[in-house]
Amino acid sequence: MQRLDLKVSGLIFCLLLAGNAMASNPVSRTHSYNGLALTPPMGFNDWAHYQCHISQRLFVQTANALVNTGLAKLGYRYVNIDDCWMARYRNAAGHLVANRKLFPRGMKWLGAYLHAKGLKFGIYEDAGYKTCQGKPGIYGHIQEDVRTFASWGVDYLKLDYCYPPDNRFPGKNFSQVAHLVYAKVSRALRHSGHAIVFSCSPPAYVFGKPKLFAQVMSWIGSVCNLWRTDDDIFDAWKSVLANFNGNVTLGRFSHPGGWNDPDMLEVGNRGLTIREQRTQFSLWAEMAAPLLISTDVARLSPAALKILSNAAVIAVDQDPLGIQATLIKQEGSVDILSRPLINGDHAVILFNKGSKRTYATVSLKQLGLNPGRYRLQNLWTKQITWTHRRIAAEVRSHGVVMYRLHAIP
Ligand code: GLA
Repeated sequence: MQRLDLKVSGLIFCLLLAGNAMASNPVSRTHSYNGLALTPPMGFNDWAHYQCHISQRLFVQTANALVNTGLAKLGYRYVNIDDCWMARYRNAAGHLVANRKLFPRGMKWLGAYLHAKGLKFGIYEDAGYKTCQGKPGIYGHIQEDVRTFASWGVDYLKLDYCYPPDNRFPGKNFSQVAHLVYAKVSRALRHSGHAIVFSCSPPAYVFGKPKLFAQVMSWIGSVCNLWRTDDDIFDAWKSVLANFNGNVTLGRFSHPGGWNDPDMLEVGNRGLTIREQRTQFSLWAEMAAPLLISTDVARLSPAALKILSNAAVIAVDQDPLGIQATLIKQEGSVDILSRPLINGDHAVILFNKGSKRTYATVSLKQLGLNPGRYRLQNLWTKQITWTHRRIAAEVRSHGVVMYRLHAIP
């Protein structure tokens, strides 16, 4: 499994180099440090919707719903358990144990259940002394905890950074300490004998501190498969917008196997209108972000399910070239983004942040495209149009118009 991934990784890396030569704005790129997560992870994480109100039942029901709705088939395979799954203390042998009240059959059983459904098993820990909710952290127990996770069949580890062990590293700054600790866990995961995707949180803790943020971003891709770039998302438009604004300029750090993570999807929750949910989904796909659903999957409305099931938008997110969109232009309240795709197409978004319907336009030249005739596929209405000069559209408040552009020979 591991071997196959590495081969695929090599192939994608070659494609990447080829793709880069074609891309209008080449970025410095690297490969997946462990051969995993060659496209952004997709699945479920409970935190944004449930916080600590979790149970074995929730994850079993979510797994069943992912399969029954067809979402699993579309790529939503990781079922990730966030904070609060652990008992308050390690057991007598020093091992992490699940909270038996919440998870009566334990984590090994749950992992096996997910695997039997064709899904993947993700779990949460913290690199410091304690998790953000005060459960035992991994620091001082790295090898044994990674062994525990591997023995449970864990496929994905989200490692948070509350309570960092700074006092053990006098004279070192936030970035240096985080680098040492995360690199150690990263090595342990790689040598665990299991393919475990590594999701890291340090950048989010220095968001808004440009110097430290830059330092963390300089090493994160050599140690992690994805990393949180912003504050915790919550079910409100202003939070989605803030995380978009924070993440949209970070494309140069993203690459297959190393993704910027602006946090979970709020699709399906009540704080956003359906249009805003469609917008978040489109923007996250355009930014090659992980697509982690955080809602009651068993009770998704038809409208929310339709958003999450848009295969054409998912294909943009999962494009193997793995180039995050660039912000091409800001015109009034409209942001225009574009990303090149592996077959030579481009995914373009016109995003209206404002409160009024607005007309926006961008020329092929501004998009960095060769002159010629292009077919425009609207990825939400499915309408096809053609252009040889510019893209122009009316964009509703908090809405997007998203196209896939194909050059006609
Ligand atoms: C932090 C993380 C969240 C979530 C909580 C759990 O706030 O950023 O995503 O994992 O901790 O306590």
